[in-house]
Amino acid sequence: MEFSKDKKTIFSAVQPSGNLTIGNYLGAIKNWQTLQDGGEFNCLYCVADMHSITVRQDPALLRRRTLETMAVYVASGLDPEKNIMFVQSHVPAHAELAWVLNCYTMFGELSRMTQFKDKSAKNEQNINAGLFTYPALMAADILLYGTDLVPVGIDQKQHVELARDIAVRFNQIYGDTFTVPEPYILQTGKKIYSLAEPEKKMSKSDENVNSFIGILDSRDVIIKKFKRAVTDSDTHVCYAEGKNGINNLMTIYSCFTGKTMEEIEREFDGKGYGEFKLAVGEACADALAPLQKQYNCLMSDRSYLEGILSQNADYAAYLARKMLSKVYRKVGFLAKNK
Ligand code: TYM
Repeated sequence: MEFSKDKKTIFSAVQPSGNLTIGNYLGAIKNWQTLQDGGEFNCLYCVADMHSITVRQDPALLRRRTLETMAVYVASGLDPEKNIMFVQSHVPAHAELAWVLNCYTMFGELSRMTQFKDKSAKNEQNINAGLFTYPALMAADILLYGTDLVPVGIDQKQHVELARDIAVRFNQIYGDTFTVPEPYILQTGKKIYSLAEPEKKMSKSDENVNSFIGILDSRDVIIKKFKRAVTDSDTHVCYAEGKNGINNLMTIYSCFTGKTMEEIEREFDGKGYGEFKLAVGEACADALAPLQKQYNCLMSDRSYLEGILSQNADYAAYLARKMLSKVYRKVGFLAKNK
């Protein structure tokens, strides 16, 4: 793990607010793994526990899921020697920069965030200030490390664009301080839809467990959930407008097998949806099996994971502190005598 000024920097994160789904895997984590090869980038991957408490969490569960999320990162092939992987709340500079950035983020901008609108509609009893200013914390995550690229699914694009606007605004006032980041979104997998309501995003916080495939779901459960996936009254496996359910299953199959849509259409020509759904389930279960095996190994040795977390958080904190000091100086905070 080495941070080089000559390399571009990548930052991304996942909230430990539910069981991670194949949406998180295909839209984000799987792509991070390809970015570490070649040693072209400095890569930082964080478990965003501070973002999670914008919605009520069970404290014990949040703690457990934080460690589990890190285990999924490692089990997915993210090498702790090549990437800086840490828990957001272990690096205080995230909260500290977030406060500063809150003062450079406009009420109107935050009001336009579609995720805020969706989440506040779902959590009417708890529309807290943190939920509203969530994108300022996310901007702090990104801007602290001079991030160039942010690999995310399409649902996070608006937040990354706001981080860009905040960076540009700050730079205009105080001179060059932040690198202006860009979202890095791959075409396939950028949005995986719910299996139960294929016009909605697949989400780890969905109450209907049949709507998502958990990265850690067993083979039987995966196959059963795909069998139940909502499709249409047609029988033809083809990618076409209005066939949201089938389009989604074809996308998932394509992500796990590397096959193109045309190849998939040919493979299932003359075969029914039942056979296709079974093939998608098997491809998904096969692809996740090695990850799950590795995950189980890691969770049986928590001290290894805790060691990674502690070491990486110290390094991230060291990097973050440099940026935070620069920002504090620029905005006019009096330095404390050493
Ligand atoms: P979160 O935890 O909702 O999702 C983590 C990542 O998974 C992607 N994703 C999906 N991609 C495709 N299809 C889906 N159905 C799907 N569901 C989720 C998300 O786009 C994301 O890339 N605010 C962020 C976490 C965060 C962050 C950051 C990300 C905090 N700080 C800084 C990037 C940079 C979030 O809630 O992601």
